[in-house]
Amino acid sequence: MKTLIKNMSSLDSIMDEINKLDTDTVLLVVDHQIWSHYSKELVLEKIENKKVIFWKSPDGEKVKNINDFQNAVEFFLEKGIHRNAHLVAIGGGAVSDFAGFIAATILRGIHWSIVPTSLLSMVDASIGGKVAINSKSGKNLIGAYHMPTNVWICSKFLETLPPVEKDSGMGEVLKYCFLDFSIYDLAIKKAPLEDIIDACANFKQKLTNEDFKETGIRKTLNLGHSFGHALEFIYNIPHGEAVLWGMVLVFKIFGNEKNINDIIALKNALNIPGKNPPWYNKEFPTEKIMTYLSKDKKISALSSIDLVLVQDIGNAQIEVKTFEEIQTVLEESKDELKKFTL
Ligand SMILES: NC(=O)c1ccc[n+]([C@@H]2O[C@H](COP(=O)([O-])OP(=O)(O)OC[C@H]3O[C@@H](n4cnc5c(N)ncnc54)[C@H](O)[C@@H]3O)[C@@H](O)[C@H]2O)c1
Repeated sequence: MKTLIKNMSSLDSIMDEINKLDTDTVLLVVDHQIWSHYSKELVLEKIENKKVIFWKSPDGEKVKNINDFQNAVEFFLEKGIHRNAHLVAIGGGAVSDFAGFIAATILRGIHWSIVPTSLLSMVDASIGGKVAINSKSGKNLIGAYHMPTNVWICSKFLETLPPVEKDSGMGEVLKYCFLDFSIYDLAIKKAPLEDIIDACANFKQKLTNEDFKETGIRKTLNLGHSFGHALEFIYNIPHGEAVLWGMVLVFKIFGNEKNINDIIALKNALNIPGKNPPWYNKEFPTEKIMTYLSKDKKISALSSIDLVLVQDIGNAQIEVKTFEEIQTVLEESKDELKKFTL
């Protein structure tokens, strides 16, 4: 099934779309922060002739755990739902990952739609149907593939997005710039953010339609993610920021000098602050990174991992690297990495 991505001019038009859904029962999962900012506009009474079951999600990433998953599922089941109920997730990537996992599993799967409210979810997390919660062993290790029916993007939500979250979203935008020349061009020319969001969302949609289960071209979207997830876990930094430093790390140890120069140019064009990696002037965490990598779900063998490298803008390829090879090069580079800044 293909997702319909639509740009919405107002929150009212989102309520209209929910009204038009072909169901009599709507399960709403709304991010706590979104509810505190927008409950006056997202008036549930505007959803007419439908039963609305509302579940407020705790702030951000905290919700992606097995206990909240069970609580929410039991809550919806107790309220009485059926196979044609439609779930609508309103929030950032954490809410859509969590709510999408409910939609994928409850009653063996119901239809669902997303209203992404963070930059990162508009350009990335809401597209492609990967849904998941976290395990004690790592991020997103319990999940499914479940395509949403609709993604309704309304950039008005960005007015209340904290700057640190905007910078995090820009980290994923920067990733797309390496994968597609037209997105790179928009970013370097400082095009309006709405145009960049549109281009990223449609680029991801194209790749995921070609390769839904990530056996080929979709893997390139993981640029910066294997190291990024490890850095997110080790330093507790926002996802997109971790992806940016994950890209820097993979380019430093396996890429070329132009990769790093492109990162600097794009960071400036996209106004992403910060020159120091999270490991700057600290002992480089090789051991922790290696432990994390071995649990990454992107590994498809016990002793190696697929890493995404970029020869030049728009020209990404997958390279299989053994853990031994990665560990050796990290060990050899640790002193240089410790002092490295962009
Ligand atoms: N499924 C995928 O393909 C995919 C891709 C990338 C990332 N992800 C996941 O997405 C998550 C990160 O998403 P995120 O960066 O959106 O983080 P998030 O959902 O945790 O949101 C970040 C913070 O911003 C707040 N927020 C969101 N929108 C807001 C708004 N408009 N106004 C004010 N506050 C707002 C949230 O409450 C939260 O505190 C991670 O869990 C990551 O694993 C999934």
